[in-house]
Amino acid sequence: MLSIGKTKNSAHFGADYRTKTGSHTWSGAKEPNGSIVRSDALQKTYDTGKTKVEALKGVTLTIKKGEMVAIMGPSGCGKTTLLNTLSGLDSITDGDVEVDGVSLNELSDNEKTEIRAKKMGFIFQFYNLLPVLDAVENVELPLLLSGVKPKEARKRAVEMLALVGLKGWEHHRPAELSGGQRQRVTIARALVNNPAIVWGDEPTGDLDSNTSQEIMDLLCKLNIENNQTFVIVTHDLNVAKRAHRIITMRNGRIHEELPPGVLPSMEFLEGSMENA
Ligand SMILES: Nc1ncnc2c1ncn2[C@@H]1O[C@H](COP(=O)(O)OP(=O)(O)OP(=O)(O)O)[C@@H](O)[C@H]1O
Ligand SMILES: [Mg+2]
Repeated sequence: MLSIGKTKNSAHFGADYRTKTGSHTWSGAKEPNGSIVRSDALQKTYDTGKTKVEALKGVTLTIKKGEMVAIMGPSGCGKTTLLNTLSGLDSITDGDVEVDGVSLNELSDNEKTEIRAKKMGFIFQFYNLLPVLDAVENVELPLLLSGVKPKEARKRAVEMLALVGLKGWEHHRPAELSGGQRQRVTIARALVNNPAIVWGDEPTGDLDSNTSQEIMDLLCKLNIENNQTFVIVTHDLNVAKRAHRIITMRNGRIHEELPPGVLPSMEFLEGSMENA
């Protein structure tokens, strides 16, 4: 049994990670219906003082453990805001978010940070690699921060880089890597902690279509082999069609949940005027 503040890493989700968080127990035990993330009437309003932007206007959704879900919709419809609020990176204005049966509303910032470190991986463009560190140092960083011993962290980082096809590139710095290779390092860093949930915000943005397909092959492999849950925001239909389910958003709300094989139209995805 592990508790918050202890440094040992529980590496494998669904294992024996038990953390007391106030009146709640972060059990790692799955809910009976198999959901891992749920939101109920989730609202997020950005208040800049002068203006208020209702970025999320009541989003209710359920994501099951082991699902790969794509989130699509026109620019500005709230996709990044949804990932930020579901993962607890950003506060919510109203409603509720539950991750593995625990309401994020009930947790302190430290507890949310702990859950993110142990249970979540992020493939976000603003989570840039540190330029002064080489590939393996970038990948091992989250392990070191969560208290894994340096030798073990190095071993796992090297293994993870090999898994994303970067064996032999461990000691190259980001500036010495191609865009695709850098994105693989980012993915290795997001996945090295073996997180139960991986959030991707345009994980293949800026990559050519071949590299993008290779990255998606890798994410799909991990999804299947490790039963990891992926929630991926993308504008790319070739990425989205690899998901089990596509959720489309429009103007701060869920527009549709599309079954496998059904893709939104380009007209819809480009319809940014509707969000003005
Ligand atoms: N930090 C912020 N402060 C104020 N408004 C914000 C902030 N972040 C997002 N917004 C606003 O919230 C709305 C939703 O933004 P969000 O970034 O979630 O859109 P998106 O669907 O991810 O768009 P894109 O496809 O362009 O990345 C937009 O109107 C945006 O201007
Ligand atoms: Mg966005």
